[in-house]
Amino acid sequence: MSVPTHGNYHGYYLKRPSVTDPRLALLPENTFSGKRVLDIGCNAGWVTCEIAQSRGAHKVVGVDIDDTLIRAAWKRRQVVWSLQKPQSSQSNEDNDLMDFEDLTRNASMEVTHLQADYFPASLQHSFGPLPIPPSKIRGKHAFPHNVSFRTADWVTEEIVEDANGYDVVIAFSISKWIHINGGDGGLRAFFRRVYSVLEPGGVFILEPQEWDTYKKAKRLNESLRNSAQTLELRPSDFESILGDIGFSPACHLGTTGDGGFRRTVDLYVKRHVT
Ligand SMILES: C[S@@+](CC[C@H](N)C(=O)[O-])C[C@H]1O[C@@H](n2cnc3c(N)ncnc32)[C@H](O)[C@@H]1O
Repeated sequence: MSVPTHGNYHGYYLKRPSVTDPRLALLPENTFSGKRVLDIGCNAGWVTCEIAQSRGAHKVVGVDIDDTLIRAAWKRRQVVWSLQKPQSSQSNEDNDLMDFEDLTRNASMEVTHLQADYFPASLQHSFGPLPIPPSKIRGKHAFPHNVSFRTADWVTEEIVEDANGYDVVIAFSISKWIHINGGDGGLRAFFRRVYSVLEPGGVFILEPQEWDTYKKAKRLNESLRNSAQTLELRPSDFESILGDIGFSPACHLGTTGDGGFRRTVDLYVKRHVT
């Protein structure tokens, strides 16, 4: 496997395994309800799928620079679908008589009642994943139709969904990789892009890596080592940079994760222009 110079670790979620990601538990209850969400640096899509399945999001897009990870994310979507408790046969029968609005309402009710780990993982390992019914049956805002994935370097490339804007943008454990690859300028450009795709009042959720974790990244290759030497910004500067761009002061939601994954999660709101 090539060197993961963008933090594009394969098997990342084997090191951070959980049915429910503890970082999401720090967020205000209705952060995702009915929202359009972008998950930047989604890796193999575990967090992205959780937001789409259990947090009532209208639409979630995961983007990652590594196409192999994006292919893994599409597979994860089908695995998550295969593990969740099926709708009862009663409601399936009812579905035949429902119109589209009923179906969409039914799907969002399901979010609150669903059981994500109903089937053992061994079942789909042995027999393969369950087929996904067409979106016209479940509704396009119900999981898994409300989640999709794209391959792109999101700092420099647009994806089609950007044009409609987002209510929530997530950047979990990615700022270090953008910073060290793109320098101070790349990181500032990234923060400006996040601002530009958010609706006024939209939310940016950032889990920055601490400065002392950059050491390990620098050791990955010479180019990163050289780039790291040019960096003047530190993670402690991010709040003021984001403030200058037009975000509210950070709401520090708390710290979670074990060992090297112990990090804070911060929430910024895009201020309305007056
Ligand atoms: C350390 S992983 C974090 C994964 C996930 N966000 C989480 O915390 O659970 C960082 C991810 O960001 C991706 N990444 C790094 N730079 C990127 C960029 N410029 N555009 C899109 N994805 C990027 C990497 O490929 C990797 O999957």
